[in-house]
Amino acid sequence: MPVNSRLPGFYKLALDERFAALAEASDADPAVLDDLRPAHEAILPIADGMVENAVGLMPVPLGVGANFRVNGRDLLVPMATEEPSVIAAASNLAQVAREHGGFFCSTSAPLMIAQIQVLDVADPHGASLRLHERRDELLAAADAQDPVLVRLGGGARELQVRVVDGAEQRHVVVHLIVDVGDAMGANAVNTMAEALAPRIAEIARGRVLLRILSNKADLRLARARAVFDAGKLGGAEVVDGIVDAYRLAFDDPYRAATHNKGIMNGISAVVLATGNDTRAVEAGCHSHAVRDGRYTTLSHMERDADGNLVGTLEVPMPVGLVGGATKTHPTARAAVRLLGVETAAELAQVVVAVGLAQNVGALRALATEGIQRGHMTLHARNIAIAAGATAEEVDAVVRRLVAEGTVRADRAEAALAELRAGAPA
Ligand code: MEV
Repeated sequence: MPVNSRLPGFYKLALDERFAALAEASDADPAVLDDLRPAHEAILPIADGMVENAVGLMPVPLGVGANFRVNGRDLLVPMATEEPSVIAAASNLAQVAREHGGFFCSTSAPLMIAQIQVLDVADPHGASLRLHERRDELLAAADAQDPVLVRLGGGARELQVRVVDGAEQRHVVVHLIVDVGDAMGANAVNTMAEALAPRIAEIARGRVLLRILSNKADLRLARARAVFDAGKLGGAEVVDGIVDAYRLAFDDPYRAATHNKGIMNGISAVVLATGNDTRAVEAGCHSHAVRDGRYTTLSHMERDADGNLVGTLEVPMPVGLVGGATKTHPTARAAVRLLGVETAAELAQVVVAVGLAQNVGALRALATEGIQRGHMTLHARNIAIAAGATAEEVDAVVRRLVAEGTVRADRAEAALAELRAGAPA
């Protein structure tokens, strides 16, 4: 049975019922779903192996983004986030996008850059060409560090030497460009950079200091495009509002930062759920937003000839499926299996599709009723739980808070007290 990412009414089901619905919708091994269930005690020793001084875990809710169709295929998307409304908004806009085929996504080759800083070079341009003359020798030396990657089709692809004029000195920076295949690639490129350093210092007649990947992963891009039906979005006025909202973000960095934060709400949720490095992805995306020297939007919103909204997004996406927490963390492993992607490129495409859905969801809310109404019911749940409501009491407290229109801690405590005292809702 192919995956069916439509999960109508999923949010209304109890947790056990959700697992049953997921088992029907997914083509993953049923054991995957067991692995998604919290098993904190079992994960603790693994956490101890992952970081130093481990004493506990910081569980973040993991939900399923529904309705996603990426390059013609339905996918159930794991999303880890502490923020209410994110999963609901992404799922909602994924459903709108289905009308015109869902998300169409692509990726560049998985090229990562390692930087090698060379100091005390007397003749930077001379050094640059001496290094270029030994390109083949240096690429072969890099490949020798990772025969497994080379066997799988990856490896060092190019050498670039940049002479960067700084305020106080001229910097010589060697870029080693590596096809990292299905890995995030940090370990592979850092190992290569460290191994090449002595030879690079010798050739440049200088001293090597830094040897580390660049998080400006602008050679490893993922792109998503979707057409959001004007009618399903709420009409031509809503499309106009979204485009106007986008235009402000495009022109004004204060708005662009918030616009891009909405994109990252979706992106980081999938990156985290799959055990990838959220900080690496965030650094890459924000550096991409300022690639032309001015901070602007990562996405674009246009109207097509039929009046529908065309949303596009392009970002660096250094995510992997081999190595790191993606392999060691049982929940991340299960999340990847639920998603059912086989390559890092496919994962990158899903991530960027979710970022786009999230962005359009936020813009639609902002351009219409504002985000607070949708946020409030979910926020009310958090406030009710914080006030001490049990699982049985939460809904009743939320109903009271929403009916009052005041979602505040003091009102939640009062509403809980009234409920426990048997006052009518
Ligand atoms: C909130 O987490 C994200 C938004 O502020 C994004 C946006 O303003 O576009 C709603």
